[in-house]
This record gives sequence, structure tokens and C-alpha cells, in this order.
Amino acid sequence: ADPDPVQDFCVAAAPAGGHGNNASYSTTYPGFPCKPTSSVVSDDFFFAGHASAGSTDSPNGAAVTSGNVEAFPGLNTLGLSINRVDLAPGGVNPLHTHPRSAELVHVEAGEMLVGFVSTEGKFYSKVVRAGESFVIPRGMMHFQYNVGTGAARAMTVFNSQLPGVVLAAQSLFGAEPEIPDAVLAKSFQVDTDTIKLLKSKFREG
Ligand code: GLV
Ligand code: MN
Repeated sequence: ADPDPVQDFCVAAAPAGGHGNNASYSTTYPGFPCKPTSSVVSDDFFFAGHASAGSTDSPNGAAVTSGNVEAFPGLNTLGLSINRVDLAPGGVNPLHTHPRSAELVHVEAGEMLVGFVSTEGKFYSKVVRAGESFVIPRGMMHFQYNVGTGAARAMTVFNSQLPGVVLAAQSLFGAEPEIPDAVLAKSFQVDTDTIKLLKSKFREG
């Protein structure tokens, strides 16, 4: 989904504060400024951040470790990226979308229900096991749910260096400043007490 590169590579120059300090990147189209080629080294094309599992000790029982251009600067202008998804038994990588990318889910261990909803409201899903893949079209609301008895792991591959993520519950009930209760109550056809309960899960204070 990203634009085609116009040179061999363009390793993202470190922003003030170093890579991983997302806030200090200034986004330039179609990516980040290039590091001078004379200072590019082999390690710029290497990423070890997926060698070990993220902690699934969270309310969702899920850990997503990002391997986008912010974590892996060598991806700049190459139009792809990769995440690692670890799920405890029963864990869910919660409903979300990627506005700039399709996602290929390749399961490496365990078994997970992977699903998305199309713009026509049709739910497509499949139990995907180690060695198998499922694809989420760009922009579709999706999740992964560990339906096995042990830990599950997938690598998720994107045709964007920075797919973006919109977490459904977080963006609706955790937005800062908050979306008015009346808007959410009418949108979901529930009372405002239900909205307040949901907000209490996703907003601080
Ligand atoms: C999984 O859905 C991911 O976005 O890595
Ligand atoms: Mn995803």
C-alpha cells in the first residue's frame, strides 16, 4: 500500500531521542528522512526485537510487539513491516483496524481464531494453526483469539512500513478528550450508564 521506493534503500535517520521515541519523528512523505548512505551499516537491515515473547500478562492476555519503521528503521520506504503476536490461552488481540495496510497472519505456534468483518457486515473467520496463514484486507476490523490449550504465536506481515492501528474499544471509550456520553449512547443504542461503565475500563480517572 505504500509508495514505491525511488532508491535502493533509505534507512530512517534517528530522530532526536533515538529510534523508538515515536513522538520525535517528523513524518515526511513517503516516509522518514534517509540516513547518509556512508553511515549505513548491516545492522540497519537487522531487527532482533521479535526473538522473544512479549508479556501476555495483560487484561487481554495478548502482547503485540511492533516491527514497524519506528522500531526497525531499515524498513523506511520499503513498504512492509512485521509484528509478533503472543496470546496466552484464551487471550485476544482485541478488535482493531489498520488504515494503511492489509495484514497477513502467519501462525507459528498454537491455534487461533482469526476473523474480520467486511464493509458489507459479513464476518469471515477461521481457526488457523501452526504453519497456516490468514489474510486481513486493508482497513477491516479484525482480531486473533487463542482457542487452543497452550500459548499461541503469530507473525503478522504488512504491506506498509507504518500500518497504523485503530483499537476499537480504546478509540471509542478511551479517547482524550472524551467523546460525549450522549453520542456514544445514541450510537450504540444503550443508556449512558453502560457508556460510563465502558469508559471506566478505557479511560484513566
Ligand atoms: C495483529 O492483528 C497485528 O496487528 O499485529
Ligand atoms: Mn492487526
